[in-house]
Amino acid sequence: MATTADYKIGPQTFPRGWFMVAISSEVTSQPRGVRYFGQDFALYRGKSGRVVLLDAYCPHMGTHLAKNRTSYTVLDGHVEGDDIRCPYHAWRFGPDGKCKHIPYYDGAIPKAAQVKSWPVQERAGVVWVWHDPEGGEPEFELPPFAEHGQPHWVEWNIDKLGVMASHPMEVVDNIADLPHLGPIHGSTVEFFENEFRGHKAIQRQSGGHRTLVGAPGDKLYTDTVYHGPGILVSHLSGMFETVLMITHTPVDDGVIEVWHGLLVKVPNAVPTEADIAAARAFNESSKAAFLQDFEVWSNKRPAFNILQVPTDGPFHKARIWYKQFYHPRSEAKRIIAPVEGVHVVPGTPGWPLQRVS
Ligand code: FES
Ligand SMILES: [Fe+2]
Repeated sequence: MATTADYKIGPQTFPRGWFMVAISSEVTSQPRGVRYFGQDFALYRGKSGRVVLLDAYCPHMGTHLAKNRTSYTVLDGHVEGDDIRCPYHAWRFGPDGKCKHIPYYDGAIPKAAQVKSWPVQERAGVVWVWHDPEGGEPEFELPPFAEHGQPHWVEWNIDKLGVMASHPMEVVDNIADLPHLGPIHGSTVEFFENEFRGHKAIQRQSGGHRTLVGAPGDKLYTDTVYHGPGILVSHLSGMFETVLMITHTPVDDGVIEVWHGLLVKVPNAVPTEADIAAARAFNESSKAAFLQDFEVWSNKRPAFNILQVPTDGPFHKARIWYKQFYHPRSEAKRIIAPVEGVHVVPGTPGWPLQRVS
């Protein structure tokens, strides 16, 4: 398995940023054990509706807080208010991870009786965690997902594409990958450019497309932004106006989990059944287009060094942009300085329209 060290991306094994950990509807008062960043977590929704993500293992004797279905503590419901009780001896932990009750002990609760509570946010039907190896506060915002929940926009049914033994570097390369658009997706690219700016990597592209436009000759415009290392949001206008989300989260070093979601704009402010059916069908086309990339990643060998020709996309610059998330944040500005700006591949016109992102 190819690891962060193999790619020489930086000293931190897992990147700093916002990452998806669950679809909102999956998070209930029945806690789930999840694994990301080489660690195990307990994820649940408290009775107030609050989502809580805790380190999984109880400080008392190491029991997994969420992976139990037979303890009477669990059968009786071990989420109480926004707290969770450990299945083994029923110590009760608050959403801040601190133990607040030991059922068989009246003395002072030991200071060490706590687990780490992770900063989570729920937005656009997704639960996100801020991951920072240095333990710092979020340094940038989640994408706004401004269209989500608005009139005319059909709610997404997020597709779980599963866990893939690929380093995220291979996925992020895609932001700069101009010459795969024809062979893989059937695009006839007319305009293509990248821009790297702070925590964002942007791709603006337009041209024909074999699957995502209505009629031959129609154009697809895509304006795609990585908001940090793991969340890609693309505004597309082709057959429909859509917002595409592809998000990946490291599970272990060299292994990622991947999701796909598509918000589709329809003519009616309150989408009809026909609108929803059309949106779902278009979601399948979008997912199929992404799975064309996914199939390559699932089977390729790692590209530690890309044998780049001048009319490839700016892969090397994208990799430099990506490195910032594997270094202390104090070094990020220095790392990305040489690549910040707009880059056009020789022979390819830049973006002809007003830049949105
Ligand atoms: S192991 Fe959790 S309460 Fe004992
Ligand atoms: Fe692609």
